Amino acid sequence: MNVHFQDELKKASAPIEKATGLPNWFYTSEESMAAEKEKVFAPNWAGIGFAKDVPEPGDVKPVFFLGEPLVIVHGRDHKVRVFHNACRHRGVRLVEEPGKTTGLLRCRYHAWCYSTEGKLKQTPHVGGPGIHHHKDINKDELGLIEVRSHIFKDVVFVNLSGGAKPFEEVFKTALERWKEFEQPIYHGGEDSSFKLLNLKTNWKLAVENFCEAYHLPFIHPGLNEISKLEDHENILSKAPWSGQLTRAFNASYDEGGRNFAFFSNLSKKWDTEAEYVAFYPNVQIGVHKDHTFAIVIEPKSPGETDEHIELYYADPSMRDEEWETMRNTNASMWKSIFKEDVDVIQAMYHGRRASGFDGGHFSPVMDEATHHFHGWIASHFMDSTKAT
Ligand code: FES
Ligand SMILES: [Fe+2]
Repeated sequence: MNVHFQDELKKASAPIEKATGLPNWFYTSEESMAAEKEKVFAPNWAGIGFAKDVPEPGDVKPVFFLGEPLVIVHGRDHKVRVFHNACRHRGVRLVEEPGKTTGLLRCRYHAWCYSTEGKLKQTPHVGGPGIHHHKDINKDELGLIEVRSHIFKDVVFVNLSGGAKPFEEVFKTALERWKEFEQPIYHGGEDSSFKLLNLKTNWKLAVENFCEAYHLPFIHPGLNEISKLEDHENILSKAPWSGQLTRAFNASYDEGGRNFAFFSNLSKKWDTEAEYVAFYPNVQIGVHKDHTFAIVIEPKSPGETDEHIELYYADPSMRDEEWETMRNTNASMWKSIFKEDVDVIQAMYHGRRASGFDGGHFSPVMDEATHHFHGWIASHFMDSTKAT
C-alpha cells in the first residue's frame, strides 16, 4: 500500500475527535473486495449462513461466500460442518442444491462418494474398469476439505484461513455480556424470515448503520416514539464487536394479552433492555427477552450487498399455528424498520463516489461504535500491524 493510503488508514484509527472515516477506496473500488477477502474475511470469523437450513442429519446447503463454493453439512454424527464444495478428484462442485442426502454425497462426474462427515468412501473404477481402489489413492487423505466453523445464535461462522483464535476467545467479552442468553433458540419459520435483496451499497455501510442509534429520530420516527434516542446507548468493546442497546424495550403482546415465551431465568434488566451487536466483520445479532434475530451480511460486490435476516424464539411451541399472527406481526415490524434503513445505507455508498469526500467526520459521542469498526478494518491493512 502506498504512503498516502497508510496515512488515510492512520486517520481512520486516530482517536475519534481527530479521526476521519475509511477512505472511499474501501467502499467503491473493485480491488477492495479482493483485498478484504484476503485480509478481513479469511483471517477472522465470518458468517456464511444459518444452521436452521440443515436441521437434520443428511441435510446439505451449498453457499457461495465471496466467490468461494462452500457447503454446510449436517453429519449423521449430528455435527454441523462446513466443507469446501469441491470434489477431491477433478474439483467438480459437489453439492449444487440444498436438500437431504439419504446416503453418501456423490459426485456426478466420476461418482466418488463422501460421507456426511466428509470422508471419502467410494472411488469407482479408480484402478481401472471394475477395480475400485488404487494403492496411490488413499481414501483417508482425500476427504472433503473442512473449513473451521462455529455456530453461535444459529449463525454458521467460518474461519477460512484456519488461523484465527477460537471463536469463544475472539468474542469472549460479548459472550460474557450475553451469558444469560446461552440457551436454545428456535427459528420462527420461513414466514418470519426475509432477505433484503440487492442493497446497492457496500457491505460495511450496512454494518456501520447497525452500530449506531444516532439516525433513529430521522429514519425510524415510528420506532422513536417508543424507543427514543435518549433510551439508547453505545455498546463498546476493545474486541472485534460493537453495537447499541435500548432501555425502552417492551415485549410483544397480542390482543388477547398473550406474550411469546420468554427466555428462562433472565435478570430483571432484560424486561426493558434489548441489545444489538455487530460481530465483525459481517454478522449482526439482536437479543430481546422474547426473541432474537440474526443477520448475515453477504458482500456480493463493492456496491452490492445481501442481508439475510432470521428471527428466533425461546420455545419451539412459538412455531405453532396459534402464534402465526403474532410471529408475522413481529417479522413485519422488523422488516419495516430494516427497510427504513435501506435508502440511507445506499445513499452513503453514493456519497463515497464523491472524489473529494474525505471519509467523513464522526460525532465523538454518537459514532463511537462505528469508529471502532473503522479502526478494526484499518488495522488489517496497516503496515506492521497485526490483525485480531
Ligand atoms: S470430479 Fe468428482 S468424481 Fe471426478
Ligand atoms: Fe436503523
